[in-house]
Amino acid sequence: MRKKPQAILGIAIAFLFFALVPGAQNPSPQVHAADDDLALTPPMGWYPWNEFGEEPQNEKLIKEIVDALVSSGLREAGYAYVGPDEGICFSRDAGGKLTTNLVRYPSGLRGLGDYIHKKGLKYALYTDAGTRTCSKAMPGTKDHEFEDMAAFAEWRADYLKIDWCNTEGQDVVKTYTKLHDAQHAAGRPIVHSLCSWGEGEPWKWAASVGHLWRTTGDICRPGRADWGNAMKIVAANEKLYEAAGPGHWNDPDMMITGMAGLSETQNRSFFSLWCMLAAPLMAGNDLRKMTTSTIQILTNLEAIGINQDPLGLQGRIVRRSGKVEIWAGKRLFDGSQAVLVFNQGAAPADVRVAWSDIGIAESAALYVRNLWTHQTAGPHRGGISVRVAPNDVALLRISKTTAFPVPPIIVADSYLVSLHAAGPAAQKLTGAITVKTNGSDELPLWKVRPGLPSWLSVAVTRNGKSQTLTNTVSTAGVKKGLYHAVVRADNIEPLSGKPMSALYYDVDLEVTGSR
Ligand code: GLA
Repeated sequence: MRKKPQAILGIAIAFLFFALVPGAQNPSPQVHAADDDLALTPPMGWYPWNEFGEEPQNEKLIKEIVDALVSSGLREAGYAYVGPDEGICFSRDAGGKLTTNLVRYPSGLRGLGDYIHKKGLKYALYTDAGTRTCSKAMPGTKDHEFEDMAAFAEWRADYLKIDWCNTEGQDVVKTYTKLHDAQHAAGRPIVHSLCSWGEGEPWKWAASVGHLWRTTGDICRPGRADWGNAMKIVAANEKLYEAAGPGHWNDPDMMITGMAGLSETQNRSFFSLWCMLAAPLMAGNDLRKMTTSTIQILTNLEAIGINQDPLGLQGRIVRRSGKVEIWAGKRLFDGSQAVLVFNQGAAPADVRVAWSDIGIAESAALYVRNLWTHQTAGPHRGGISVRVAPNDVALLRISKTTAFPVPPIIVADSYLVSLHAAGPAAQKLTGAITVKTNGSDELPLWKVRPGLPSWLSVAVTRNGKSQTLTNTVSTAGVKKGLYHAVVRADNIEPLSGKPMSALYYDVDLEVTGSR
């Protein structure tokens, strides 16, 4: 089980480096899904299944989506993990190795990952724990766990969804534990997204072998949102609130916001529910064709701040009044509380949220921020009254002060530095990536820990909310060849000295010409 961070802001940051160098010049690090400090807040990104199903998935589509993710502002709002779902289309060669389908992915699965990393995004891939994927079109990992996890590491995946089709006779705990061990052996830190649709009650055991687990069946058939089914999924997930926390999340499935079949109100309510549920925010709509309203919903930083809160609490229903639900139980890092009033009825509802509903003394004088209208009211004593239209929500934040800080949301301009040294003379090369914080607070200056491979050093400079990580290579004494390092950046909580979140990126060095 993961530790719970105690605070987030005012953090000192340090780096821990390790190298993965072909030719085993450096030993591979040992990575444990529950100890890599990945997914300390719910993963955010995009997956194709809800909108597209399997057939149209190919390199062109994924690249267009990646470009739309950046140009629409979703990247700045924190959406990072993106890549193919079952349309990944690999096959297994005679030697048992997974191979890319170059017709569907002409740059290869590694090439697609490089494209995604250069855009400042992280690479999400897909597989299945059984003999075949759900469509039976692709091989599953059964009996190939170690070689397949090595392939995903080679393709430089950062996130892997592992489906549960065609697993007759397999034990769910043993299977996902083996896949975790295989990933550990492959040496690349990867978010493990377990997808057994609740089979085997993963909320009871999966925190030590993965970062998130599907709790329920598919939220819709590809191409059309299904509100009724989504509400059943919400009801099932609501009960599981105790299992969620930093590094281990209940996953009620990819989002349907922005898909055909939902009204604007339902889009907003759905997103609010996913924020309160501390659910992974994996968009499932066609990012190339978003209305302004869909973009505004998906990029509402005040709502995202609830979802990305570092305490990682999952909200729950604390009171029902007819068809109206009052959700709370989501205390936030600054001491404020998130509250959701959700009207599932057919008529508008006037609802009183009493402070006692959310565990606060009636005498408290509190400010109320509406996270959709972006207005603050108060101070109020005893409670507040809100009017909520059918299917609509009031998403609120309640605090003793008028400050409603959004926690740091990390956005990078790239996750890949590629350097090339030609000719026999020693050279000094640099490549930088910039990491900034979208949110109310700046991050303190990052510190570099010792432990870099001998050919690499990193300097950090700060410029307001941006920090530049300058990777410098001196090729003196470095032989011809390809070198690769995965750099890890940690936010360290100052009181406990424990990492608050980890950022990983790749550095490639190619040295040609003998020295
Ligand atoms: C399962 C998963 C879906 C999707 C499909 C692909 O149904 O739950 O999210 O990945 O498989 O076939």
